[in-house]
Amino acid sequence: MGWLAYAHPIFGAVVVGFVFILGHFGLRGRGSSLRCREARQLHARLGPWVCAAALLAHAGGVLMVWSVRSDLTAASSVHFRSGTLLVCLLLLLFCSRPFMHLVLVRQLHPWVGALTMLIAAAHVFFGMQLIR
Ligand code: HEM
Ligand code: HEM
Repeated sequence: MGWLAYAHPIFGAVVVGFVFILGHFGLRGRGSSLRCREARQLHARLGPWVCAAALLAHAGGVLMVWSVRSDLTAASSVHFRSGTLLVCLLLLLFCSRPFMHLVLVRQLHPWVGALTMLIAAAHVFFGMQLIR
């Protein structure tokens, strides 16, 4: 069943890819042209799915360590901590949804988003170190 340990890194890579696609559409959505509005709509629609997928990847990672990686201790790695931070930031961005009409929230949201993308990149780095 050793191959099962690769299910999480593969799913995790897809999730991180979608975090970047989400951020890309968000940043492309700045402006008032029709294309910007379309990108913003796509971004707002994709957001909750990416949050849900990240939560699933987080739970899946712990489950994999617990079930098939007896060489690792669950919830003790830097990758676990960066994953927790990533999920929390995504949920924070999700929670900013009802407040997007406030100028301050609209200004802060992309900065928190950029930080989220940085953490996602670091998270991949820490995850690679756990691959057997
Ligand atoms: C390219 C992306 C990723 C790679 C290469 C990766 C790699 C790994 C590896 C090798 C493990 C050990 C379990 C196993 O072998 O299946 C692991 C555990 C874990 N991963 Fe990932 N992962 C990635 C993305 C993610 C994402 C997106 C999340 C959640 C947001 C996540 C959260 C976790 C958690 C919570 C654990 C358990 C760690 C622990 O209990 O100490 N990972 N990851
Ligand atoms: C991945 C990182 C993210 C980045 C870089 C990012 C960036 C942005 C940017 C630049 C905007 C446009 C702000 C403006 O009009 O000036 C925006 C809007 C928005 N974002 Fe994000 N965002 C991210 C993640 C998320 C997540 C996870 C959600 C959760 C649902 C979300 C929901 C929204 C919503 C609802 C809007 C307003 C859309 C509209 O007015 O039609 N974003 N984001």
